[in-house]
Amino acid sequence: MTELNQQQLLDIVNTKHTAPGDARVRQLTARIVSDLFKTIDELDVSPDEFWKAVDWLNRLAQGGQVGLITAGLGFDRLLDIRMDEADQKAGRAAGTPRAIEGPLFVAGAPSFKVEARLDAGEPKGEVFVMEGQVLDTDGQPVAHAQMDVWHANEVGGYSHFFPGMQPYELRRHIETDAKGNYRFRSFLPPGYAIPPNSPTAELFTALGRHGNRPAHIHFLVVAPGLRTLTTQVNIPGDTYIDDDFAFATRDGLIIEIEKNVAPAGYESLGISEPFTRSRFNFVLQQALNDSEASPAARMARVTA
Ligand code: BEZ
Ligand code: FE
Repeated sequence: MTELNQQQLLDIVNTKHTAPGDARVRQLTARIVSDLFKTIDELDVSPDEFWKAVDWLNRLAQGGQVGLITAGLGFDRLLDIRMDEADQKAGRAAGTPRAIEGPLFVAGAPSFKVEARLDAGEPKGEVFVMEGQVLDTDGQPVAHAQMDVWHANEVGGYSHFFPGMQPYELRRHIETDAKGNYRFRSFLPPGYAIPPNSPTAELFTALGRHGNRPAHIHFLVVAPGLRTLTTQVNIPGDTYIDDDFAFATRDGLIIEIEKNVAPAGYESLGISEPFTRSRFNFVLQQALNDSEASPAARMARVTA
């Protein structure tokens, strides 16, 4: 058996197969393996460094934290930037800007028509109502649009990921009325921070970076014939608004906040005292094909 040099090993790894397999997976794997071989060689990665990284990856995956790292290293925003660039080129840069979904969406939230309360019991912060319409890019209301809305609790934790929270706490599904109207009551959430003493925190400490996100609320808006919108809105005034560890804040998504709004008309949301409100319309583009209107993976998660 002949001894292999680095290049010979790489060539064999990248070309070896006894069945056709999946051409795209083979192409991507070959590229990633080639880049990593190069990194190991050029940066003289030691076996200890390599196996430490493998241990870290195992712990990261066991903790379900891969999605924190993809966001923190810019990959989620990169996908959005690439879609924005493609939209620009195609002359379809219209509507509410997209923003990363993040790894903390959970499908199947309790469903309500037109209005919902995300909070329960005593207010955990400033009583907040967000309301508006879902519109198309001609300004026409979108009847019966389906909206998922979710945000963090008073200490920045998300239900299903943060201990002690109820299933679907601070997560709701709202169907707009015939005029595209929606509204919900909750409280203004604080920002999010990566879990301390976690594999994610280990990397960010080693990089000398913080792992904070500014206060935000997530949305996934779906309607027949329109392009699914995944976005987030940001609450103005947060320290991290221009320094999001996930690089997801965008100018068109910082909401305006009105304080001391009179409670009349908001009784059905249990409001009897002045409260904080934001009005925000979500504008969806026309879908060019079925998959834009109901992207398989997204829809499966919305309806799961
Ligand atoms: C979030 O939306 O809260 C989030 C996004 C990316 C990574 C971690 C959290
Ligand atoms: Fe979030």
